[in-house]
Amino acid sequence: MFANRIAIVTGGGSGIGRAVCKLLAKENASIIVADRNVKGAQETIASMTEGQHVAVEVDVAKLDSVKSMFELVNKTYGSEEVATLLVNSAGITKDGWVIDMKPEDFDQVLDVSLKGTFYTTQLACKTMIDKKKSDGGSIVNFSSVSAKIGNMGQANYAAAKAGVEGLTRTVAREMGKYNIRCNAVIPGFIETPMVETVPEHIMQGMLFLTPLGRKGQPEEVANVIKFLLSKESSYITGAMLQVSGGLFL
Ligand code: NAI
Repeated sequence: MFANRIAIVTGGGSGIGRAVCKLLAKENASIIVADRNVKGAQETIASMTEGQHVAVEVDVAKLDSVKSMFELVNKTYGSEEVATLLVNSAGITKDGWVIDMKPEDFDQVLDVSLKGTFYTTQLACKTMIDKKKSDGGSIVNFSSVSAKIGNMGQANYAAAKAGVEGLTRTVAREMGKYNIRCNAVIPGFIETPMVETVPEHIMQGMLFLTPLGRKGQPEEVANVIKFLLSKESSYITGAMLQVSGGLFL
């Protein structure tokens, strides 16, 4: 499905990002597994049986680091090649009540999820446009149910993810003429290291509100991302696709 396509997956060293890498590798994409935790990125590659991939240490919250990652794509694949698939899975939480939240904890969550998504998206779009390789460019971002309904203790995270939705819709509008599509997934509670710290009683409450009555698996989100990256979704852009077991209807 993705033969001769280069994909950048941020946050590819864990959770949903790792599941996306594995799935895209099976579909013959060449993947830049990009993560602040390079060991995690290397472990992802070690778990992939098909294809040649590159692990890269990147902090998406820092523009210089993101620029270096795009230079690495050039060096690795040659200056004519471009990553036309981008998955912005990197994200963090720093929970706390709004009245106690440290400004730096608010900033850090926005820096990774929102500014990080902006930096990679801007460079990916610029490169695709400059090299006229825009046929079939596809970007998938990550929102959250927290952005839709708010979530106690997550003022920073909900704000960041709501921002990602606005960014996604705007990129979809601006880039449509270059045939670059931009969509987002809205995961519910997915069984990854990110949700391991959620207290059991909160998790039980969430599962009670989830019509499917269980947590999701990273692969169930990855399947939807594969669809959004592929030509099978060629007329979908600016969409927010829930993969939440029906948590927010
Ligand atoms: P995870 O914690 O398993 O993976 C996140 C990855 O992002 C980690 O490998 C981490 O090292 C990397 N990362 C963090 N900061 C980074 C930075 N500055 N630069 C580069 N990499 C960085 O989390 P998970 O669950 O796989 O989350 C993936 C995305 O899905 C995130 O954007 C998250 O906000 C979103 N999401 C997850 C949900 C869930 O239930 N797991 C629910 C809703 C949204």
